[in-house]
Amino acid sequence: MNKKIVLLGSGELGKEFVIAAQRIGQTVIAVDSYENAPAMQVAHGFEVINMLDGAELDRIIAKHNPDFIVPEIEAIRTERFYDYEKQGITVVPSAKAANFTMNRKAIRDLAAKELGLKTANYRYATSYEELKSGVEAVGMPCVVKPLMSSSGKGQSTIKSEDDIEKAWNYAVEGSRGDIVEVIVEAFVKFNSEITLLTVTQNNNLPTLFCAPIGHRQERGDYQESWQPARVSDKDIAEAQDMARKVTEALGGAGLFGVEFFLADDGVYFSELSPRPHDTGMVTLANTQNFNEFELHLRAILSLPIFEITQERAGASAVILASENSDHPTFTGIENVAGQPKTDFRLFGKPTSRPYRRMGVVLNYDNLDTPIEEIVERAKKIATLVTVNK
Ligand SMILES: Nc1ncnc2c1ncn2[C@@H]1O[C@H](COP(=O)(O)OP(=O)(O)O)[C@@H](O)[C@H]1O
Ligand SMILES: [Mg+2]
Repeated sequence: MNKKIVLLGSGELGKEFVIAAQRIGQTVIAVDSYENAPAMQVAHGFEVINMLDGAELDRIIAKHNPDFIVPEIEAIRTERFYDYEKQGITVVPSAKAANFTMNRKAIRDLAAKELGLKTANYRYATSYEELKSGVEAVGMPCVVKPLMSSSGKGQSTIKSEDDIEKAWNYAVEGSRGDIVEVIVEAFVKFNSEITLLTVTQNNNLPTLFCAPIGHRQERGDYQESWQPARVSDKDIAEAQDMARKVTEALGGAGLFGVEFFLADDGVYFSELSPRPHDTGMVTLANTQNFNEFELHLRAILSLPIFEITQERAGASAVILASENSDHPTFTGIENVAGQPKTDFRLFGKPTSRPYRRMGVVLNYDNLDTPIEEIVERAKKIATLVTVNK
């Protein structure tokens, strides 16, 4: 069982996936748009290409002829994946899953229209005029997002008429890819939001769920995440039911990060990643018998996962850069290392820019410890590190 994997995207999530694969003797070629990306540092080989360029993708897939293609990001010419699947290469979790989730429209229509999942009321717009009528339809406040974007890029909230034009221009600037279209959705006044890591398996083995992960977002990126999040049995059952439906419709085996809002009037499906989720880095605190990267790998390789057990409670807090640098260094790591029940990762990114995620602090305790306490500790410990230029 030595499989060849081409990993498309080589950030910190890819790096942990490669490490998991290395530990059980698999071969990985890591791909990204720049050299020395985190996952490349631990892979057998690497390629530097523009992954939105279909011809470039074709070239490296033909060159390496892998058993598996594992996407780590959304910005890939995913239309090509259907062909690779026909050639007998397994796209993880499936060509459909990767292709549908690179565009908010495909996944939202699947969830809301085809599967009937509860989502925020939404409309699409390809112009400022269309956005105006979309806002009228869903009501204010509402959130505008480019269909092709991630990490909050181009995303803003409209509170009054005056914000509409700004929101349109901002979305156009933050849009990736060749089409400029936005989704405008009603603002959900949620009490909390969670990621439900969901693992689909081959060979008719059951779909498994991790304990819910809570998280807090700022500027479009997560700041802290924690597991287990406190969620009522009723909400968990609803979220699991929705996660099962949407992952089954997308097909294939692997780990998905399914995002939900928990509000007074129930659970809203928001979006999903057909791959390990950044908020799932909390599992690196050994909160579970297998972390999210190990689960993804096992599911892909058709290694049966008997069960997922919660071993302890944990939290992650991000370490962000504050300046541009092409040789970032860290101070204060000794202070982090010296804390009890604490661990950390530094991703080895070759350059920094303001707010770029450079590492993560992990804190954990037994399952009786109030989760808020662990989050506060992780947050405080993360402030002990500074990223220098
Ligand atoms: N309709 C909404 N109502 C309230 N908050 C929202 C809504 N849509 C997005 N958000 C907030 O913005 C964050 C990022 O939005 P998301 O749709 O997940 O985009 P991304 O692909 O950038 O992660 C969410 O985690 C949530 O905190
Ligand atoms: Mg999200």
